[in-house]
Amino acid sequence: MNTSNARDLSDITPTPVRRPGHHGSPDARTGWPHDRFKPNKSNVLLDIRNLEVRFHTPEGIVHAVNDISYRVHEGEVLAVVGESGCGKSVSMMAVLGLIPRPPGEIAGGQALFMGRDLLKLSEDEMQAVRGGEVAMIFQDPMTALNPVISVQRQMTESLRRHYNMTSEQAKTRAIQLLELVGIPDAARRLGDYPHQFSGGMRQRVMIAMMLACNPDLLIADEPTTALDVTIQAQIVELVTRMREQLGMALIWITHDLGVVAGLAERVIVMYAGMIVEEADVDSLFEHPRHPYTLALLGALPRVDRRRDDRLKSIPGAPPSLLVEPRGCPFAPRCEYVIDHCLTERPPLMSVSPTQRSACWVLAGDVAGNLPPE
Ligand SMILES: Nc1ncnc2c1ncn2[C@@H]1O[C@H](COP(=O)(O)OP(=O)(O)OP(=O)(O)O)[C@@H](O)[C@H]1O
Ligand code: SF4
Ligand SMILES: [Mg+2]
Repeated sequence: MNTSNARDLSDITPTPVRRPGHHGSPDARTGWPHDRFKPNKSNVLLDIRNLEVRFHTPEGIVHAVNDISYRVHEGEVLAVVGESGCGKSVSMMAVLGLIPRPPGEIAGGQALFMGRDLLKLSEDEMQAVRGGEVAMIFQDPMTALNPVISVQRQMTESLRRHYNMTSEQAKTRAIQLLELVGIPDAARRLGDYPHQFSGGMRQRVMIAMMLACNPDLLIADEPTTALDVTIQAQIVELVTRMREQLGMALIWITHDLGVVAGLAERVIVMYAGMIVEEADVDSLFEHPRHPYTLALLGALPRVDRRRDDRLKSIPGAPPSLLVEPRGCPFAPRCEYVIDHCLTERPPLMSVSPTQRSACWVLAGDVAGNLPPE
């Protein structure tokens, strides 16, 4: 990566007033306090409870996200994996109020961010959260960048709104952020429009914009998929470095198990709108407890393959989300299926303090929840 312009964040990191325990004195030049945020990993930042999202389509109701619950702690990196269409994006977008309604509907649940239910916020309140406390970066940077407004205006308006900066302070900060993400000649490039940047550089601009307000949580939805492999590695490295320096939590949606192994502390595996396994990253790779995870890792029944590998394609197709499955949604593709799987949907069961699985066979006995003979 071109890191020649990269600099340490500690001297230019704004401290959002909302964070308890922050007492930085303002920097005379830029006007924001500059002590670093030290995450406390036992504090729950985001607490998703029984989230359900549906889409009302001419074909019927698409059950896109079905009763998912998980937590993200301060400063933690959570990876979300699963095949295309399993609800990864929708479950994150729902949290930030980005689901088009209609046809979408949040049919139930809570998304508690620092104790406040984001699903109950008005659009104005949600806008303050987006780009403030929680930011999201997408596969296509143009989703977040406005093509007809210069990067300078997009960045400084957001900084001025969130931090009450003067235009000069906001401009200084915007240049620092562009330098930080490795944009060469940042002061000159600031006035450019998004289309004047290459794909990889545009992704960096979007990351700089998202970091402008020093979010507590960054959600990255496959931000590297459209980029070539070298640029992908640079972006992953960039976000990792930012996260470490800023102390923010990160949710990274990906198909790339190499990214999961290298980046994540915890992993959620989704299938048909549900979480089927959740584990710390080592347990997931060493002893997965769900046949779908095993299949993704590409080594049924033993997992002797590890790390840097893309998700395997699994024989069979995911179920239609138009019909709510009666039993386990993975049953038609599962090598371990037993009769009970066809009649009762397995709940997420704890198999260890750091691992949960929704499988009657691979988790039920450990969880003391054996299916009937
Ligand atoms: N606007 C919409 N109208 C109807 N159905 C939708 C809409 N948006 C998403 N869906 C459906 O919701 C389900 C979950 O979609 P989602 O985009 O979350 O999948 P994903 O896991 O992010 O997939 P990918 O890996 O391809 O990005 C899919 O079946 C999709 O077709
Ligand atoms: S519950 Fe049954 S069908 Fe579902 S993953 Fe486990 S063994 Fe397979
Ligand atoms: Mg997606």
